[in-house]
Amino acid sequence: MARHSVTLRRIEFADWRAVHSWASLPQVCRFQSWGPNTEEESRAFVATAVEAWAHSPQRRFVYAAHVEGEVVGLGELHIRSRHQGEITYSVHPRVWGQGVGTAIGKGLLARGFGHLELHRIHATCDPRNLGSARVLGKLGMTWEGRHRHTALIRDGWRDSEVFSILEDEWREIEGPRIGPGGPNPTA
Ligand SMILES: CC(C)(COP(=O)(O)OP(=O)(O)OC[C@H]1O[C@@H](n2cnc3c(N)ncnc32)[C@H](O)[C@@H]1OP(=O)(O)O)[C@@H](O)C(=O)NCCC(=O)NCCS
Repeated sequence: MARHSVTLRRIEFADWRAVHSWASLPQVCRFQSWGPNTEEESRAFVATAVEAWAHSPQRRFVYAAHVEGEVVGLGELHIRSRHQGEITYSVHPRVWGQGVGTAIGKGLLARGFGHLELHRIHATCDPRNLGSARVLGKLGMTWEGRHRHTALIRDGWRDSEVFSILEDEWREIEGPRIGPGGPNPTA
């Protein structure tokens, strides 16, 4: 349960400074192939994420996560193929462990299943990224297995744990109240 009220809204270019405040930190990028970002890299990332909202068909849905009016995280739903999506997220370490990552994940699943009619949503994480694996478990995702050497990062090749959730599993967790008009990031 989030200790804060977390709101997701479509990312804007002005969010780049907030994004940079955590994307520039080594502990945030430890298991990622990107970062720590320079200011230019954070600006370029946010600019591309904003532009993606204008693409048709739209594949990337990137949201800024607000807590009390402050942007403290990012969530992305990426449409990978017909009815299949992937979620990713990052949170400022200042608020780690307070339910923000889980709230972002829930908002992304609601968008993907409740509004984009996806059938399956998956996510991956480095086996050492225990916080992220915990978030995926709390979202009700099922661990499917480990893909070997999926990315070359600073300390060598990393593996990826693969988790997924199907639309009917999500509806069972969220209950019948979710559907068109149910909880949804503002978009
Ligand atoms: C992964 C991440 C988004 C989690 O965000 P968060 O706001 O801390 O997430 P939550 O508070 O909702 O949940 C984190 C859970 O992981 C647990 N956790 C954190 N570190 C842990 C560790 N080393 N071992 C075990 N559990 C851990 C927390 O206790 C919490 O579980 P709980 O609610 O049962 O106590 C955040 O750590 C982050 O931004 N990491 C860097 C980017 C990243 O790795 N993104 C994911 C890409 S796969």
